[in-house]
Amino acid sequence: MVASNKKIETAAPTNIVIFGVTGDLSKRKLMPALVRMLCCGLVHTDSKIIGVVNNRTEEVWINLVREGMQEFSPEIVEDESRWKKFLARLIMVPGDLGDETTYQRLAEALVELDGKKNAMFYCAIPPDWYGKVTSGLRKAGLANEDDGYRRLVIEKPFGHNLESARALNKELQSVFKEEQIYRIDHYLGKESVQNLLVYRFANSIMEPLWNRNYIDHIQISTAETLGIEYRAKYYERSGALRDMIQSHLMQMMTLVAMEPPVEFTADAVRDEKMKVLRAIRSIKPEEIKLHAVSAQYASGTVEGEAAKAYVSEEFVSPDSATETFAAVRFYIDNWRWEGVPFILWSGKRMKSKSSEVMIRFRKPPFNLFDSHASAPAANALVFRLQPESGVVLRLNAKKPGLTTDNEEMVMRAPYAADEGEVADAYEILMHDVLTGDGTLFSRADEVESSWQIVEPILDAWKNRVSVERYRAGTWDIPAMDELTKDCVGGWHKPTVHK
Ligand SMILES: NC(=O)c1ccc[n+]([C@@H]2O[C@H](COP(=O)([O-])OP(=O)(O)OC[C@H]3O[C@@H](n4cnc5c(N)ncnc54)[C@H](OP(=O)(O)O)[C@@H]3O)[C@@H](O)[C@H]2O)c1
Repeated sequence: MVASNKKIETAAPTNIVIFGVTGDLSKRKLMPALVRMLCCGLVHTDSKIIGVVNNRTEEVWINLVREGMQEFSPEIVEDESRWKKFLARLIMVPGDLGDETTYQRLAEALVELDGKKNAMFYCAIPPDWYGKVTSGLRKAGLANEDDGYRRLVIEKPFGHNLESARALNKELQSVFKEEQIYRIDHYLGKESVQNLLVYRFANSIMEPLWNRNYIDHIQISTAETLGIEYRAKYYERSGALRDMIQSHLMQMMTLVAMEPPVEFTADAVRDEKMKVLRAIRSIKPEEIKLHAVSAQYASGTVEGEAAKAYVSEEFVSPDSATETFAAVRFYIDNWRWEGVPFILWSGKRMKSKSSEVMIRFRKPPFNLFDSHASAPAANALVFRLQPESGVVLRLNAKKPGLTTDNEEMVMRAPYAADEGEVADAYEILMHDVLTGDGTLFSRADEVESSWQIVEPILDAWKNRVSVERYRAGTWDIPAMDELTKDCVGGWHKPTVHK
């Protein structure tokens, strides 16, 4: 269920232009999502998919698409008539992104298709190219909306610090109006993240509890068992703080902490998210050690397999101090959240894989049942995003028997009875772009504000020569216990829910 009051509609016919159509994101996510959207009527049958392809013939490109589909949507390739229908929608425009004639050719191709159609420009390309592409589109007259809408989609990272994020926003906004720009954060496209909003704002029992009077602290986390895979070159320049906390986790924090918006529209929601970001207490350089943790995986064993150290991964410098684990404790200085720690943490090569928002309530003020029982545990409400999305509520109940001893009762509600029913984040987000709904996308001011908040930490970590290590496949990060020592229950390791 999409957390908005909009009706699910077939988007108007659109020319879907993909820059970077031969890349990994297109292969794994965009093409399979578009195929499914076409099949179920979310994309209009008059829409075309235009791939801007460099150094390949049309035949080679189509073969690449087919191979990708075989891997990620085999049902399409194996059904000859569906594959042919899909194929009929594909159009190739050859050219290099750095060559202005590419955009002229694209403009000509669009006119030939029917210039009055809407266009979505999806940049599935290295971010260094965003500026070149937008200026190419402008020069070819493809940014103005005289004969249909023009929407630009970009993938994170949106800059690598405040200065570069500002420069990028300026560059994009010199060509497109802010409402034409869709900055994708695929985390916000997950149904389970949107479910968090529905839980908050469609259940009246939540609101009275959702504040400093009842909540001890909140932990928002992603733990991965994987290492950096093939992303070393990117990751060496990024690290966990940039890669996960500044983007996905801070976005989720704003959804957890924001006030109810006046309506479920893009700007009403994003205005409330911005208020949260503005209320985050800044961390002074001398306080960084108190509020932030970083560490890097050493060798170890993950899910029974030997895992090498980060510094031994291909393309990683042997003396790299890049963090593969990061945590930050934020405070939101407003009436609702004053004094409640928000602990955002993310790590690679952890003991188990999980992505969660855990709301830890305060302890009961007094233990009435103190004769035999241990003190009741503080309640927790956990929104699990992956794996097995759903909600877990931990309460205390009487143990069967003659005493009033208590034990924890764990109530689990899977998000969907069948995970196969859950829409893919890219389907949701691309449909939102096609229908002009920016609610789940980051606005320029949000992006800049979140960079501004983490910038002192980035600066402090920039020139360091060493970083703490943890064994791959463990939770062995003592600094996390220190960071959470005043939080009820301490560091919440996701395996606790299994
Ligand atoms: N992959 C993911 O799961 C993922 C997740 C989140 C965000 N992202 C973001 O999505 C974007 C794309 O990532 P990716 O993993 O798909 O990258 P990728 O596999 O390296 O693909 C890059 C694409 O850009 C094209 N390209 C690069 N330079 C070009 C040029 N001068 N002219 C024409 N085409 C050019 C490449 O074409 P060639 O094939 O000809 O080189 C390729 O199609 C990046 O911004 C990344 O940060 C990716």
